[in-house]
Amino acid sequence: EKDGHDWFMRKEIFEQPRAVADSLIGRRTAAGKLQLDEMRLADEELRDIDKIIIIACGTSFYAGMVAKYAIEHWTRTPVEVELASEFRYRDPIIDATTLIVAISQSGETADTLQAIRHARSQKAKVLAICNTNGSSIPRESDAVIYTHAGPEIGVASTKGFLTQLVACYLLALYMAQVKGTRFGDEIDEVMRQLEAMPDHIDKVLQGAEQVYELARSHVGSRSVLFLGRHAGYPVALEGALKLKELAYIHAEGFAAGELKHGPIALVEDGLPVLCVVPPRGRDHLHDKMVSGIQEVRARGAHTICLAEEGDTSIEPYADHLIRLPGVPVLLQPLVAIVPLQLFACELATALGHDVDQPRNLAKSVTVE
Ligand code: M6R
Repeated sequence: EKDGHDWFMRKEIFEQPRAVADSLIGRRTAAGKLQLDEMRLADEELRDIDKIIIIACGTSFYAGMVAKYAIEHWTRTPVEVELASEFRYRDPIIDATTLIVAISQSGETADTLQAIRHARSQKAKVLAICNTNGSSIPRESDAVIYTHAGPEIGVASTKGFLTQLVACYLLALYMAQVKGTRFGDEIDEVMRQLEAMPDHIDKVLQGAEQVYELARSHVGSRSVLFLGRHAGYPVALEGALKLKELAYIHAEGFAAGELKHGPIALVEDGLPVLCVVPPRGRDHLHDKMVSGIQEVRARGAHTICLAEEGDTSIEPYADHLIRLPGVPVLLQPLVAIVPLQLFACELATALGHDVDQPRNLAKSVTVE
């Protein structure tokens, strides 16, 4: 049942190219237009939306953070991302032109369910992004996009996360198509880039042994930091969450630009810092990340950098380098999270922990 793997989690990590490919099947008409048939929200309703609030917990929340970058960029619609457990306690401003997007792998998370009930009582439309057919959250929503990860058994979400990202990209592109934003021309190109992702993820998985070796050399670490920027920031947060929940090691993710506002004080000799380096582009994102890495290294950090192939600028500052395929920054989370999942899984295994059933955690959290 685990296909020769020791853990369901490891099996599920290796299923990701397939899960991403499945999530893209049937999304284009013969004429190349994007379609989201199962969604049940009319184009007119989508056109009227002037604000989106994404609500979710844990890993699904981090998928929502990535979604914010994508939806705002492609549709120019303002997006807020909120932890489901906080949402209804802050008196959120919602009305009939607000779209609530509830992201949940299980569809049974109580915090998220309560949040959508509150939103609907305020007349907002709710769209669920969910991996479980017929579960409570899609049942109580106006619309749904199902992810096609297949059953996720490991308590730590992996393929669930990647397929949520794909669903969020599709929603963003579909809204761009419906609203006719100036990014409409990019839709075709982004769809082609998405369709190439399963091969890219596969390539990252082929480097698993290198990541495992690195993970095993960190069994003595008491604390690990993760840095990212832009869409790489939620990846850093998700990488830290994986390490906390599986290896029970203190881990924190930061937006690299925030370092100088406090967290850099944590850096001491030998502290492992995993850095998600954005692709080289026209903006200064990449160079600013490199200088952040330089700074932590100058203070003794052991830097482990995830950077695209051919990026030589990072070499002098990386104690360890993991190569990623070259992809656009908005799509980079789909490849950048994979080594971080492998890292946490292997480190937890080396420490003798039960990777599929970490202590104190349940697969779906049905209490508030
Ligand atoms: O089923 P959901 O997506 O609603 O679950 C949300 C979180 O409980 C979940 O992502 C949790 O953080 C995982 N253990 C992360 O690996």
